Amino acid sequence: MTDTVTTHQAAEDARNENVKIWVNGLLKPRAEAMVSVFDSGFMLGDGVWEGMRLYNGRWAFLDDHLDRLFEAAKAIDLDIGMTRAAVISALSETQTANAMTADAHARLMVTRGVKSRPFQHPGLSRQGPTVVIIMEHSRPSIPRPIRLATVPHMRGLPMTQDPKLNSHSKLNCILACIAAEKAGADEALMLDVHGFVNTTNACNFFIVRRGEIWTSTGDYCMNGITRQKVIDLCRVNGIPVHERNFSLVDTYGADEAFLTGTFGAQTPVGEIDGRVIGTGEMGPMTTRLRGLYRELVGAA
Ligand SMILES: Cc1ncc(COP(=O)(O)O)c(C=O)c1O
Repeated sequence: MTDTVTTHQAAEDARNENVKIWVNGLLKPRAEAMVSVFDSGFMLGDGVWEGMRLYNGRWAFLDDHLDRLFEAAKAIDLDIGMTRAAVISALSETQTANAMTADAHARLMVTRGVKSRPFQHPGLSRQGPTVVIIMEHSRPSIPRPIRLATVPHMRGLPMTQDPKLNSHSKLNCILACIAAEKAGADEALMLDVHGFVNTTNACNFFIVRRGEIWTSTGDYCMNGITRQKVIDLCRVNGIPVHERNFSLVDTYGADEAFLTGTFGAQTPVGEIDGRVIGTGEMGPMTTRLRGLYRELVGAA
């Protein structure tokens, strides 16, 4: 398929060739921003991360992102080695060094650090965490509604690798995305262990049916911050919203479908498994929610 798009497509911005990247307290030019080949993140995907967006001088929902980061680090028994205030000041330093005031995206990553030998045991990660902030000038540029394909890769049970963890290891999601691309779609629609529709490999998933918003129960998907904000916006604005189980039959027959994520906010879905959803274009409810969300984040 030649016209595949991704849900994280941004307009080209030449300034990104020269961005400064925060690596363990130092601001490095992009070409010199490196981590060790012994890093736990490189070697084993042993780390956690957050994606954040700058709207009009403010990092949207910063507290929610920091809560999720510190909670994930605690869950994997990783000491970030920084206070919340220190993380915020690292973000500001990177933002200032890159003269960013709006339309920027940050990926804040914390791994278990450099290992003394190339093996799995976390005790071999002895040099403290590796903390990196990649910040890019970023304006989402997704040229058309997204096409999804369902794939055999599932959102697993919490006792394997809890799908709520934003871990560096994304292999399950990556394999799902590869399968979707090979089926001619842009991104994968993933089911839960019971066969209910759950999420995509990189975003949360919603449908609109007869004026109601449906999304999964939340048991098997990333506890997306944008997902929660959309649910909250629906409640505040009197739009019926349900976190519930639903199947592909409900999904193919939906009036609209959209994805949520920090990068794209609310991204319309036009097609799933070759079935056109609604008109195939962004529908009125998705448009309305995008407007409400832009107001919430104070987008210009
Ligand atoms: C699998 C998955 N689902 C959903 C999301 C969206 O979460 P958020 O809205 O917090 O960006 C992410 C983002 O990291 C993700 O990796």
